[in-house]
Amino acid sequence: MKKQIILVIGAAGQIGTELTIALRQEYGRENVIAADKTIKPGSDSIELDVLDATKLRQVIHDLEVTQVYLLAAMLSATGEQHPEMAWKLNVQSLLSVLEIAKEFQLDKIFWPSSIAIFGPTSPKYNCPQHTRIEPNTVYGISKRAGEYWCQYYFDKFGVDVRSIRYPGLISYSTPPGGGTTDYAIDIFHQALESGHYTCFLTEDNCLPMMYMPDAIRATMELMHAPKENISIRTSYNLAGMSFAPCDLAAAIQMHLPKFQIAYEPDYRNEIANSWPASIKDEQARKDWGWQPQFDLKKMTADMLLHIGKNKEIVTRCIEA
Ligand code: SER
Repeated sequence: MKKQIILVIGAAGQIGTELTIALRQEYGRENVIAADKTIKPGSDSIELDVLDATKLRQVIHDLEVTQVYLLAAMLSATGEQHPEMAWKLNVQSLLSVLEIAKEFQLDKIFWPSSIAIFGPTSPKYNCPQHTRIEPNTVYGISKRAGEYWCQYYFDKFGVDVRSIRYPGLISYSTPPGGGTTDYAIDIFHQALESGHYTCFLTEDNCLPMMYMPDAIRATMELMHAPKENISIRTSYNLAGMSFAPCDLAAAIQMHLPKFQIAYEPDYRNEIANSWPASIKDEQARKDWGWQPQFDLKKMTADMLLHIGKNKEIVTRCIEA
């Protein structure tokens, strides 16, 4: 098999941080190049603004990259504040990568889509792969357009681009960045720090969610699947769990009985209202054997364990 050199764009972000670790475990540290717009001093990442197409092309050419994971994006809540920038970052970056992939005949591309491509006219429960899709957020529109571009570059030029419609992703190692589903991360930090959380969604606003270890495994499994098994070239529906803020609060209270939650819904509640509450993902299961491992109970226990440990370390450092 040809030696693989992998470029991860947006490597310092929520998905990028953990995906880079998983890719390095598999392909070796020296074969996975982590790139981000700004990098921390002393890090082994390279500085790369994905909107600088000339530099992007040069990096891919000079480092003999064979696979690109394009994770740089502006999420739903921030996208509503900066529509033009969200469109540019989410779509222009993809077009540049697809064009370069075509030119250099790269082996594989990964690009994430989202449940945000669905809109108010899509089925609320068990939303299927193929259905009415009329997104009404900038983020959703940009991701839906991106899905069509992936399909187009596969159909016309044979670019092997693969994609997942991620649900809201929950993780403990990096803070989330401007999404509507971010409450499901913030709540853990607040529960452990102050014992109280004020949620920006209503208590019953149910959304599809996934724990990061499942999301990373799904990504690796999709990218490993034989090309002929990939029947979806827009983006795969993927389901992990579905819950509302009140369900998550109850799961946290099983561990922290004094935890309190209040609700002050803002504009993000409207965004969440336009998305399905649950997703049907039979195509991912059929094509590449997808099976989630974390449910609400298991994810909650693991999040509290890890965030609790990190906080202990921080507290010990401050006290020392
Ligand atoms: N987590 C994303 C957001 O809230 C949805 O994919 O914007």
